[in-house]
Amino acid sequence: MAPPVRPAQFSELAYGTTLAREFNLIQPEDVMKWSVIRPDRASFDFTAGDAVVAFAAAHQMQVRGHTLVWGRHKLDGAEYTPAELPDLLHEHITRVVQHFRGKVFAWDVLNEAFDENGKLRNSIWYDRPGIGLAGKGTAYIEQALRWAHAADPDALLFYNYAEGEAVNPKSDGLYAMLKDFKRRGGPIDGIGMQMHIFDLHPDVSSIGANIGRFTALGVQIHITEMDVALPTNPDTGTLRNSEDLGRQADVYREIAAVCLAHHGCTAFQTWGFSDKYSWIRSFFRGNKGAALPWDEKYNPKPAYRALKETFADGSCDRVKVSTPELRQP
Ligand code: XIL
Repeated sequence: MAPPVRPAQFSELAYGTTLAREFNLIQPEDVMKWSVIRPDRASFDFTAGDAVVAFAAAHQMQVRGHTLVWGRHKLDGAEYTPAELPDLLHEHITRVVQHFRGKVFAWDVLNEAFDENGKLRNSIWYDRPGIGLAGKGTAYIEQALRWAHAADPDALLFYNYAEGEAVNPKSDGLYAMLKDFKRRGGPIDGIGMQMHIFDLHPDVSSIGANIGRFTALGVQIHITEMDVALPTNPDTGTLRNSEDLGRQADVYREIAAVCLAHHGCTAFQTWGFSDKYSWIRSFFRGNKGAALPWDEKYNPKPAYRALKETFADGSCDRVKVSTPELRQP
């Protein structure tokens, strides 16, 4: 079973007040994932997800849901047989989406289903063993979207992905899927571009071109998980080069501006907001960090001021600016 839910960070004064003051959209980092919502095969635990929804309601924020179908979801193999997988996933999507119906306005239904070469990634849901549509290309993705649509016809349904934010083979594969779905009336409303930036020189014009070709197909773009990792000293967590903060601010500014430049780019989220709580440090074993707009003591960094300036031109009416709530304590 999951541990009892203590959304400790909501009650941490600087965390809660910064979150409520600065953002109008919120997304759980982990608590709507399979591992938290589905502690075992028989149970659903919505407690932590409900806490996110309650925080959002108390502060007039909208909620994005993340994520229903992800190859990285760990299921205990002893708990299902391959033949049961389609029903298991159908049940999961239906129960979760119905539970948050009217509270979550957009769902990352699928997360990271393509490989860098633009082909579908092997995964438990696609082909190992899959939900009965192995070898049938994007049919399993379409199926998941249709189940989500049936569970909440009003929710916006997204495919969320990483490392294909520029034009490249991965985004080409996704573009082909989208074109096909749009032609046949598949239920997809948007593409989430995670935008984890691991070096300080993203190809912003190519990212803009990619956003342009997707939005031309009539889907929305949400920037869903932006952070800009900086080199840090593993022992102390301090920056290797303090001048990186300026370049980091420029990267945030450039990506925010490219979103604003496209009418179909309708949300901008960072993956956390204070360096106190960020997945980057553990992901890079201390060699990168300081990726977010506030430092560990909630002091705004140059990146914060860059975002504030970029969104201060009235475009905020169109673009929701957001951040995820923190993981479970
Ligand atoms: C990460 C969380 O930040 C971590 O707390 C967790 O341990 C692993 O997942 N892409 C995604 C997110 O879509 O769900 C991931 O979040 C980061 C990469």
